[in-house]
Amino acid sequence: MTSIKAAITGVGGYVPDYILNNAELSRMVDTSDEWITQRVGIKERRILKEEGKATSFLAINAIKELLKKTNTEPGEIDLLVVSTITGDMRFPTVSNLVCKELGMTTALNFDLSAACSGFVYGIETVSRMVESGAYKKAILVGADMMSSITNYNDRSTSPLFGDAAAAVMLEPTTEDVGIIDRIIGFDGKGTDFLYLKAGGSLYPPTYETIDNGDHFLFQEGKTVFKSAVSTMSDISVDIMKRNNISSDELKWLVPHQANMRIIEAVARRMGIEREQVMINIDRYGNTTAATIPMCFWDYEKQLKKGDNVIIASFGAGFTFGSIYLKWAYDPA
Ligand SMILES: CC(C)(COP(=O)(O)OP(=O)(O)OC[C@H]1O[C@@H](n2cnc3c(N)ncnc32)[C@H](O)[C@@H]1OP(=O)(O)O)[C@@H](O)C(=O)NCCC(=O)NCCS
Repeated sequence: MTSIKAAITGVGGYVPDYILNNAELSRMVDTSDEWITQRVGIKERRILKEEGKATSFLAINAIKELLKKTNTEPGEIDLLVVSTITGDMRFPTVSNLVCKELGMTTALNFDLSAACSGFVYGIETVSRMVESGAYKKAILVGADMMSSITNYNDRSTSPLFGDAAAAVMLEPTTEDVGIIDRIIGFDGKGTDFLYLKAGGSLYPPTYETIDNGDHFLFQEGKTVFKSAVSTMSDISVDIMKRNNISSDELKWLVPHQANMRIIEAVARRMGIEREQVMINIDRYGNTTAATIPMCFWDYEKQLKKGDNVIIASFGAGFTFGSIYLKWAYDPA
């Protein structure tokens, strides 16, 4: 019997218009274009400034583009998963708001929270559901409005993050394309080094939590950096080895975009060239669950059917994951 795999069959994306570049950021906190460029590799990031708009707005626009490009009616979608840590509200979910706005009233929909590994955890979840045969047209969107939880008085975190959303369609296939292998994990070593303390059930909002800045994300950068380099490198090398992919046979590495130095270290360990790595951190920064699909969005025209692609992510928790897939379609 031919087995069913899940394949990415379309990509859509959205970034807000407002560009916060390093020069403007250097007027807000004690930093410089030179420091950010050398230590992180970011030149600018997008910020959603429009009154009354939040993560669902980013997701809706990315999905609208995806539906248009794939010639799909909203009513055809039977599954929508939104990977995010910056939902518009505690509830309802972003997925509920998206489905309501776009008229996807029959889709099973939910949010998935795995921080910077949100897209990889989402691929694992959605692809398994598609492979089961129960879902025929699924959308996974990575959407985060990181500016809503970033402290623009803190130079150690404010240069890093941006707002964006990007969505992929996943459909069943019996062809030799789609999601082939995955390494998904969590090590529990990171919960004290990357978190947002308040606003949940442990520390509901009070004047004190606001005064303390506890509604902004906290990161102990050096510790996260070291674990990100070793974990992302290990899982990417492992998935290459166990699928017998040589560095020449790998067409694309799609790494989570957190720091250019992390990306370069992972590529070095995999023995691949810079031309084989999708990079857009310079223009968008770290958009959390959106970084990986944003790379697909940016590089879609260069992707060809059958291309060997490895995705690698790392984030709060620490959560991590690597996916090996064969790209399923040629550029339009
Ligand atoms: C955050 C990060 C960019 C900081 O880079 P770093 O090289 O580790 O820098 P450090 O935190 O050690 O700071 C080095 C110096 O630069 C200073 N510095 C920090 N941020 C600065 C900024 N924006 N501008 C100028 N100087 C800065 C520090 O104060 C420190 O100064 P000191 O030596 O006088 O004490 C880096 O650690 C990182 O990318 N971490 C991982 C992020 C990540 O992978 N996240 C994944 C999950 S989303």
